[in-house]
Amino acid sequence: DPQSVLSDIDHQLTLNPSTLLGLVKAFLDEFRQGLSNYNHPMAMIPTFVTGVPDGTETGTFLALDLGGTNLRVCEVNLQGDQTFSLRQQKYKVSDTLKTGEAVALFDYLAASVDAFLTSHPPLSPKEDRSSSNASAHDFLPLGLTFSFPVEQTALNSGKILTWTKGFSAKNAIGNDVVKLLQDAFDRKHMHVKCVALVNDTVGALLSRAYTAGGCVLGSIFGTGTNGAYVEQVANITKLGNSPAAARGGTMVVNTEWGAFNNSRSHLPTTPFDKALDRMSINPSFQAFEKMISGMYLGEITRLVLLSLIDAAPKSILFQGKVTKVVNDQWGLDTSVMSDVEEAWEGGPGGDDVDIIPQFEKLAKEREEEIQPEMKKKLESVRKVVVSKLEYEDKDVGLRDAAIVRWVCHLVARRAALLSGVAVAAVVVQQGTGSLPNEQGKQKNPQSNGKQSSERIRVGVDGSLIQFYPNFERTMRESLRALVGEDVEKRADIGLAKDGSGVGAALCALQAMKDY
Ligand code: BG6
Ligand code: GLC
Repeated sequence: DPQSVLSDIDHQLTLNPSTLLGLVKAFLDEFRQGLSNYNHPMAMIPTFVTGVPDGTETGTFLALDLGGTNLRVCEVNLQGDQTFSLRQQKYKVSDTLKTGEAVALFDYLAASVDAFLTSHPPLSPKEDRSSSNASAHDFLPLGLTFSFPVEQTALNSGKILTWTKGFSAKNAIGNDVVKLLQDAFDRKHMHVKCVALVNDTVGALLSRAYTAGGCVLGSIFGTGTNGAYVEQVANITKLGNSPAAARGGTMVVNTEWGAFNNSRSHLPTTPFDKALDRMSINPSFQAFEKMISGMYLGEITRLVLLSLIDAAPKSILFQGKVTKVVNDQWGLDTSVMSDVEEAWEGGPGGDDVDIIPQFEKLAKEREEEIQPEMKKKLESVRKVVVSKLEYEDKDVGLRDAAIVRWVCHLVARRAALLSGVAVAAVVVQQGTGSLPNEQGKQKNPQSNGKQSSERIRVGVDGSLIQFYPNFERTMRESLRALVGEDVEKRADIGLAKDGSGVGAALCALQAMKDY
């Protein structure tokens, strides 16, 4: 019976507090493993960024940003008073480039920088207030934000470990990404030098630190998900006896948390997750990311909807009809979920529609029994479903609309709760928060026994956290359940505006000290 099919899906996609708690513990365990061994899936990459900026830094730099929705080229001017100005141009990266030869991809990156320099000629020294401006050198310094796992060996070098997020360019893995890019600049005889390399999460951390005067975690909830945080060098035991280890202090670590629990021993995995994984270009990798990030949520939702459309003996959705959007792999974009939820949230108030008990009542023949407020909201969702899922108007009833909205909500809610797990794990790892003990009470992590009131600054970026309705609220709900309300309230989660550009510029500035 339909009710039990829906209850079953509800059950599979709902996370309870004890599951979340188990996940944080497993997360901390993987943190430890990654900090002590190279080649762990959750790579815990030392970034060689040893301090965070305070907003007094100045300089003008080029930045190139690959790995989010867009390829971006920017010119960033750090003004030294916690502010910056930025000129940028976005470019598209085609699937052919993502999956073709690496040389072609990097040639395209160089061509994009070239095009940018033609349309945005560099500032003259007079216009440029910074001391480390480009004209002091015979090259333009560029910071690269490369949002994939790279095993860094210095601020300006690192080997690509794997591709993620739909990229699979050949002859890239194992190569130095800075060299790949520099060779492409050199092939074009450009006077541009790639002096620094950062992950987008590191960019988010540095840029939030620049504008807010400090930051302990940078994280991305966009096409992919990941976080970078400030760690004690003494805890990064895999650094062994290297100079970086001897220096001590702190270092930013890029966790690559998208690879958390690739074995799926702890992640409550549904058949929909398994189907998505199997059909993806990187099966068994990025298990956590595949439940959270924008590249995948639409696909999970599509698979759940299909299972309802195809339910036997009688279809539960759209009278069994499909469209190209619901039929094609990757056909349903996560932004559609966002539009559906927006239509629901944006409508007049009224209780949530509890789809499972109300299934029968929502049938077309009984629509007049639905309260007017609710009907209005469902009607606006229905319109979005018709247009974005490309159905004919007559094929979508209010019940279909209610079901689609319910599925989007379940899938996105699970993603946001899991995102809270990652943030909680960092807070516990850094010692600013703790998990509840057996009695459900939070231990006080402050060694002197006093409750701290210090803000826990987190810089975030990405389309999900920026645009998905209530994503941050639900993430906070999870954080609260895990580390308690006091700590959750201290978490100052703020958008790292232009994080990649500013972060790359700050790293380039650091690197230029060596030139
Ligand atoms: C952008 C950053 O703002 O956000 C990128 O410039 C980052 O570096 C991206 O990867 C993440 O969001 P999305 O949604 O574009 O993947
Ligand atoms: C993927 C990448 C990671 C990046 C994240 C967000 O997880 O592996 O490096 O930070 O996406 O863009």
